[in-house]
This record gives sequence, C-alpha cells and structure tokens, in this order.
Amino acid sequence: MAYDNIIVEIRGGVGLVTFNRPKALNALSAGLIADLVNALDTLEADNSIGCIVLTGSEKAFAAGADITEIAGRSYLEMYSDDFIADGWERVARCQKPIIAAVAGYALGGGCEIALMCDFIIAADTAKFGQPEIMIGTIPGAGGSQRLARTIGKAKTMDMCLTGRNIGAEEAERAGIVARIFAAADLVDEVIKIAQGIADKSQPIVAMGKEAVNKAFETSLAEGIRFERRLFHATFATEDQTEGMAAFVEKRQPSFKNK
Ligand code: CAA
Repeated sequence: MAYDNIIVEIRGGVGLVTFNRPKALNALSAGLIADLVNALDTLEADNSIGCIVLTGSEKAFAAGADITEIAGRSYLEMYSDDFIADGWERVARCQKPIIAAVAGYALGGGCEIALMCDFIIAADTAKFGQPEIMIGTIPGAGGSQRLARTIGKAKTMDMCLTGRNIGAEEAERAGIVARIFAAADLVDEVIKIAQGIADKSQPIVAMGKEAVNKAFETSLAEGIRFERRLFHATFATEDQTEGMAAFVEKRQPSFKNK
C-alpha cells in the first residue's frame, strides 16, 4: 500500500498508519484524508488485522485541517461539499479497534481525529488543542461534542473559547488520554497494546467496542439493556466457549474469531 500522504505498515496483527506531511505538520489535506479513508477500508477488509494504530511524527500528530486549502472557500462551497462529513468521519466508523498514538501537536482537526479513535495514548510531548477560535472559526470535526462528552463543559469551553493547548498530563487527568509513554517509546508501546487487542477474539472485541460507544448515544437504561443483549450474544460464539474452557483448564485460549 503506497500513498502520497501517509505510510501504512503491517506489524503482526496491527495496521500502523503514519501521517506523512512533515512540512505541513501533518495538516489534514483532502489528499491525506482520501489516503486515510482508502487505507482504513483496506485494513478493515484484511482479516489478518485485528487493530489499527494512527500516528504522526514526533513533532505533530496533526496540526488540524489544512488551512491553506480551506482559507479561500465560501460558505456555499463548504456547505455543498458537506466538508468533513465525507471522509473524516470514516475514522469514527471503524468497526475494528483503532488507537491514536499522539506525540507533539494534535490541534483542531488533529485533536478531533484522535478523539474519533477508540482511545488515545500520548507521548509526554503531546499537546491537544482546539485553536480554531484563533483563526476565526470553531471546531468542525466533532471537537466541541466529543470533548464535552469526554471532559465536561468547563474544560471544553476553556479549550474551544481560549484556544489554549493542554499537555499530556492535563489531558490524561481530564480523561482525553488513556496512558502516557516517553516519546521515544510511544509507537512501540502502542503497537504492543494493539497486538494484545488483536490477539483477542475479533468479533468479541467488536462487540465490546460497540457496547462502549453506545454509552455516548443513549440513556443509561437503554445502554445497559444493549450491553446485556450483546453480553448474552457472546454466548453464541465459539470463542466464548473456548475462552472460558481455557480459564477452567488453566491454559491460554486459542481464539478462532468465530
Ligand atoms: N494547515 C496548513 N499548514 C500548516 C498547518 C495547518 N493547520 N499547521 C502548520 N502548518 C504549516 C505552517 O504553515 C508551516 O509551513 P511553512 O514552513 O511553509 O511556513 C509549517 O507547517 C510549520 O509550521 P510552523 O512554522 O507554524 O511551526 P511552529 O512550530 O512555529 O508552530 C503550530 C506549530 C503551533 C502547530 C502552528 O503551526 C499552528 O498554529 N498551526 C495551525 C494550528 C491550527 O490552527 N489548527 C486548526 C486548523 S482549522 C481546523 O482544524 C478545523 C477543523 O475543526 C476541522
């Protein structure tokens, strides 16, 4: 898989997608988003891949939408193209687990793409922000909504209205970030975590992901009902039978994704 704006590598059961526009701090151009959509389609169709990792460079995960591409666009062009909806949201629609490994700047659309992933693992150098207010606009790829649901109103308003960046530790305290590693170790550590997920039963992982995501879209009672039905459904799989048998027999399970 060769692309102009990203690098795609297969590491065991993990698909590693690296944003690769270093001169523009991985600004999310139309070309980069098209490459990303194509890579995600390909990785999702590949049964040997059990987890996807999105990453950038040491300096920038991504510094947002490509401002040079959108600066001159009119309201009607943005509206008619439904800018963002087409393409970017593909990340949020991944059925396979997808982890953002963030070092350096994750700003604007970069922060938003990371938030579309199932979880974010950060380098100690990571900086998250929604600086759109500095350039006369607001988040457009779900930042105001996903952040508000993740870290609450106070910090979301602070980030969106002042445009200030927050570092890895503040982001972890606020609940944006699941874990932090030293920048030099980030990608290797995230690949290990991703491989651990890829080694599990893929249909059960997908059900677990669906259950957690339901929490963002429904009432508690409905969410619990949804979770319970999926939990019951795991008992229709060979992998549940194998997983529990392996525990009882004190051995490692051998999942067949069935
Ligand atoms: N779009 C296009 N180019 C960008 C860019 C972006 N979002 N961010 C950085 N670049 C380019 C710079 O123009 C510069 O290019 P040149 O060398 O050709 O001048 C190059 O990347 C390096 O950037 P800087 O020289 O600015 O690097 P720095 O270390 O001094 O600053 C930074 C880094 C603080 C991230 C700064 O580049 C910056 O503020 N970038 C813009 C961040 C931003 O506003 N993002 C939001 C975009 S709008 C959006 O994302 C909307 C949405 O919700 C979808």
